[in-house]
Amino acid sequence: MTFHSSRGPYPATRLRRLRQFPWSRALVNETSLTAADLIWPLFVLPGKDKEEPVVSLPGVSRMSVDRLLPQIDRAIELGIPAIALFPVTPAECKSDDGAEALNPDNLICTATRTIRAEFGEQLGIVCDVALDPYTTHGQDGLLRDGKIVNDATVEVLSQQAVVQAAAGASVIAPSDMMDGRIGAIRTALDAAGHDGVLLMSYAAKYASAFYGPFRDAVGSKGNLGSGDKKTYQMQPSASDEALHEVSLDLAEGADIVMVKPGMPYLDIVQRIKSEFSVPTAVYQVSGEYAMLSAAAANGWIDGTACMLESLLAFRRAGADMILTYFALQAAEALRE
Ligand code: PBG
Repeated sequence: MTFHSSRGPYPATRLRRLRQFPWSRALVNETSLTAADLIWPLFVLPGKDKEEPVVSLPGVSRMSVDRLLPQIDRAIELGIPAIALFPVTPAECKSDDGAEALNPDNLICTATRTIRAEFGEQLGIVCDVALDPYTTHGQDGLLRDGKIVNDATVEVLSQQAVVQAAAGASVIAPSDMMDGRIGAIRTALDAAGHDGVLLMSYAAKYASAFYGPFRDAVGSKGNLGSGDKKTYQMQPSASDEALHEVSLDLAEGADIVMVKPGMPYLDIVQRIKSEFSVPTAVYQVSGEYAMLSAAAANGWIDGTACMLESLLAFRRAGADMILTYFALQAAEALRE
């Protein structure tokens, strides 16, 4: 609307007035980003004193747990509340049925025990529940006659969750997208005395092409081959279906619901947060990190500025917490 004054047709309302000074911009700031909003995903290698860069995730290395400890110490110091662990399972430990997932001394369990012993309750440890790090076919579930069988998979995932909780996991994060697994896992955890362990459901997880570098990092890409996960992960065109998934997971006992990937799915984050008003996480996945890092490395974008802008955008969309490979870098940048 334009008002006419003696000096001409200028607007009375000028939004630029509030944008003039750092102090006025600070007063009207609507969204905040702090280290306390971040969860740092880490890749664990077997052995000792091992460190291998992930080529498709510049700046990210897979490390043996002894090498991870000082990194985690730094994360705690910077105010990052939780880490998410992903095992790089040796090929000889993989099988058709992913039985290694249930081994109480597998890589994820030994790493969790070591980290818990070192840091106690100073941070949350998120453990992923799915079979893909352990199966020779690279699928998240059990394969019978070329199909992923739902209910038999849920049985195994429930046991996997109990094994991880016994090792010291604070948060169980099922990323498999089987139907009914949240309720089954909640029941199994409670029956085993782990009623205080949180459930973070990968509730709206899409069959996305943005997971490529992650599959390189955990070494499941070769196993999966030309296979895909479209019979259990959601198709990228879905929106209402994400709300349906979230409503079921909440009814089954999820404490936190997650949307994944992140940047191309901000509309889903926004819909879920406004519909349910529950703790909502978003996962800025490996392909998103790779895109931003590659452009920054080429000098095409300001890496730090774009990183922080992307994370702030998740918060604006309604995410309470963000899983991101940038967690440490972002926390360092926010401290400055
Ligand atoms: C495993 C899992 C995946 C990711 C997290 N847990 C890969 C997949 O579903 O194939 C992807 C994370 C990322 O790309 O950063 N179920």
